[in-house]
Amino acid sequence: MKIAIVYTSISGNTEEAMRIINAHMKEYTSQCYVYHVEQFPFYQLESLDCLIVGTYTWGNGEIPYEMMDLYRAFENCSNKDLVTGVFGTGDQCYPHFCGAVDEFRDMLYVQSNLAATLKIELLPQQLDMNRMKRFIEVVMKRVNSKKGITV
Ligand SMILES: Cc1cc2nc3c(=O)[nH]c(=O)nc-3n(C[C@H](O)[C@H](O)[C@H](O)COP(=O)(O)O)c2cc1C
Repeated sequence: MKIAIVYTSISGNTEEAMRIINAHMKEYTSQCYVYHVEQFPFYQLESLDCLIVGTYTWGNGEIPYEMMDLYRAFENCSNKDLVTGVFGTGDQCYPHFCGAVDEFRDMLYVQSNLAATLKIELLPQQLDMNRMKRFIEVVMKRVNSKKGITV
C-alpha cells in the first residue's frame, strides 16, 4: 500500500494538522510518506493507492500558488481510481472559510476517488482531534474496500 500526504503551510497551522493526521495514519500503515508540495515527485500520482492533500487558504478563498501544480497534475493524471482526501486550515473571519479545500474537493470529486474532506479553524484544537481521527478512518476504509480488506 502506497500512501502520501502532500501539504503546504506558511505559519504552521496546516503543518500541525498534517502531523496529527500522519500520526493517525501510522495506526493503519507504515508506508505513508509526507512531502511538502515543493518536494513531491508528481509522477508518483500514477502509482499511489492514496493521496491526502493538506492546504491553507489564501487571498479571497483561493488555493495557494505553490499548490497549483499539484491541482493541475490531478487533472492530467490517468489514475482516476486514486483514493484521495483533502484537509485544510483557514480562518472563519474570511468570507470563504477554507476556500482552497472546497476548490480541491470539487476537482478531486471529478478527477479521483475522493473519500473525505476536513476543514480546521487555524491551529488544531482539542475538539478537532476526533475529527482528524475520523477523517483518516474514512479515507482508509475507502482504500481498504478497494483492496478487498474489510475494516
Ligand atoms: C492574506 C491572507 C488571506 C487569507 N485568506 C483566507 C480565506 O480566504 N479563507 C480562509 O479560510 N482563511 C484565509 N486566511 C487564513 C489562513 O488560511 C489561515 O491562517 C491558515 O491556518 C494558515 O495556514 P498555515 O499556518 O498552515 O500557513 C488568509 C490568511 C492571510 C494571511
